[in-house]
Amino acid sequence: MKVKVKAPDKWMEGWDKLYRKMLEEEDLTELEGLHVHYPIQQLFWFIKLDEDEEAGELKAVELACGDGRVACYLAQKGYTVEAVDALPSAVTLTQKRAMQLNLSHRVKVTLGDIDTWKIEPSSYDLVVALQCLQYLFERTMPRLQELLKSVKPKGFFVYSGNILPHEPTEKPIRFITEEELKDALEGWTIHSIGTNVVRRSAESTRGYLFAVAQKQLL
Ligand SMILES: C[S@@+](CC[C@H](N)C(=O)[O-])C[C@H]1O[C@@H](n2cnc3c(N)ncnc32)[C@H](O)[C@@H]1O
Repeated sequence: MKVKVKAPDKWMEGWDKLYRKMLEEEDLTELEGLHVHYPIQQLFWFIKLDEDEEAGELKAVELACGDGRVACYLAQKGYTVEAVDALPSAVTLTQKRAMQLNLSHRVKVTLGDIDTWKIEPSSYDLVVALQCLQYLFERTMPRLQELLKSVKPKGFFVYSGNILPHEPTEKPIRFITEEELKDALEGWTIHSIGTNVVRRSAESTRGYLFAVAQKQLL
């Protein structure tokens, strides 16, 4: 089944190719890797998981789970994770990875659009949106607000997205700036926020914005 999303087909085809290639790998149990996952590692500097916290009690959602590494990492840390992506290859890869890691009971993967995915207010201990909200274009900022509402008091929001510098794209990416993100997180505790610039090739240098924030009690 094909999910129609706002990101151009060409971009979706590029990610699809990557996930299909990964699906050919026999061993999917290695979870370390991409620099864009750095805020997830940071998250656990700020979270003190209670030792007697029941496994599976904490509920996370990951939007655009891609290769599934983050969803599985969170499940390993004790979260029950709902993961969603619009590509069947991402869904299959995440499921296969979770199976190899014996985490299938903690990772529920759904094929869907991260924009229309039903997300209730105050329903998650952790909401993760890495490298995806920017592909919702005019819906990027409204969706960010909806996601922030879906975090329970004391829960966490982990974000990464591109900023300038970035090569021009045929459909301009909706970059969320650091100022916009800080404004959206007004009243939250921002444990970490930062940017970096990565030179990917002679033609491509990209900026990234990261944040780990915690919602305060109302
Ligand atoms: C740059 S990759 C990021 C994947 C992953 N979050 C990460 O950081 O490794 C972008 C992902 O967003 C997904 N995606 C883009 N637009 C989407 C949408 N509207 N609904 C669901 N998934 C979407 C793509 O399928 C792809 O897996």
